[in-house]
Amino acid sequence: MKHSVITKTFCIALLPICTLPNFPAHGQDAKFVPNYDEARVPEYELPDPLSGVETKNDWGSRRAELYERMATQMFGTMPSPEAAKLRIESTSPGKLILDGKCVLRQLKIKIAGQSVDVALFLPVSASEKPVPIFLGYNFNGNHTVFDDSSITLPQSWMRKTADHKAHEKDRGSSSGRWAIEKIVDANFGLATLYYGDVDPDFDDGFRNGVHSQLGVPSDSEAASIGTWAWALSRVVDALETIDEVDTQRVAVIGHSRLGKTSLWAGASDERFALVISNNSGCGGAALSRRQVGETVWKINDSFPHWFCGNFKQYGRNEGAMPFDSHTLLALIAPRPVYVASAHEDRWADPKGEFLSCVHADPVYKFLGTSGLPSKKMPAPNTPLHGTIGYHIREGKHDVTDYDWQQYIQFATKHLVQ
Ligand code: GCU
Repeated sequence: MKHSVITKTFCIALLPICTLPNFPAHGQDAKFVPNYDEARVPEYELPDPLSGVETKNDWGSRRAELYERMATQMFGTMPSPEAAKLRIESTSPGKLILDGKCVLRQLKIKIAGQSVDVALFLPVSASEKPVPIFLGYNFNGNHTVFDDSSITLPQSWMRKTADHKAHEKDRGSSSGRWAIEKIVDANFGLATLYYGDVDPDFDDGFRNGVHSQLGVPSDSEAASIGTWAWALSRVVDALETIDEVDTQRVAVIGHSRLGKTSLWAGASDERFALVISNNSGCGGAALSRRQVGETVWKINDSFPHWFCGNFKQYGRNEGAMPFDSHTLLALIAPRPVYVASAHEDRWADPKGEFLSCVHADPVYKFLGTSGLPSKKMPAPNTPLHGTIGYHIREGKHDVTDYDWQQYIQFATKHLVQ
């Protein structure tokens, strides 16, 4: 079956050169000017994930080929599970919170020598029957997710604080991004961990975090996003020892850079039964070939430690990528995937995030699922919930209660009913 996915929004040859986005040459310091004008989106052709695929059987080898390409050219190949030398160091007894309807437990685990704290918020019913969970990294430490004095303060490098240490005063400061009460009321659990416990988010030549034990990655091996994703799988390994958690029903979730991470984790480990990317943008759900907002050149320049060395060659050369973000979503098929955008989050290219869903849809349909309910970009706050879910909400780059309402509804539909 041959699918031709060609989008012609504009003929680049007809435009005078002075109207093109201002892309500085490699190594130059000229200011990067993002393009937000649809009329200036270059003509592009997307590689067809279903090329050469005739039967469902063919999809297995095609999928393996696409996965290998995205691994070696973008996120880096992952270390083996054994390389983590995973150890569960301690499990705290449960503490009742939220008027007695939620049990807070903490696990301390070792992943490739790094001490990683996982906070588990479980509905009390989990002691009778294991519950499905959302699993996702937080940006600022578990203590910021919920205000409780028993939550361990991270010892690792903090990105946001002036002294790069965690502080008591920040307890609960990110709680607006974590709808724990809604999650627990819907009979789901939440497992969350600080991403800097695994690999601190700055470019240090891969000397710290898990790389201190795994070694400096080659150009085709996992850099930071790749090892963050890999460590999420190691957390699932650890959760397999917790009776209250149903590890057959784990929804992996992430916001922004951690949304890029959740998509790659979902593509890499089929134990993730459902995958959610919130405002993941460039290198996540947004089609790179559109070059709207952040581009491949820009992301590699700003965050050289996120993607593997080979990905650098696609800066200002997106057309040479043997995949695009629709491929990333297709690798998750037929498992449910949810992509969420925010209307004011232009840097992440909401339309590009939606179009990835549109172009992953043929794979979802081919594999017998409902795919994406509409190919027309919905208006803000009118979600689409098929096997591919999508919404664009009003507002800025963030995770809000509205987003969580959609995720809980989507996960209930796919993992519970
Ligand atoms: C920057 C970066 C994005 C990323 C975001 C975030 O804006 O350019 O790619 O998604 O940070 O993680 O918050």
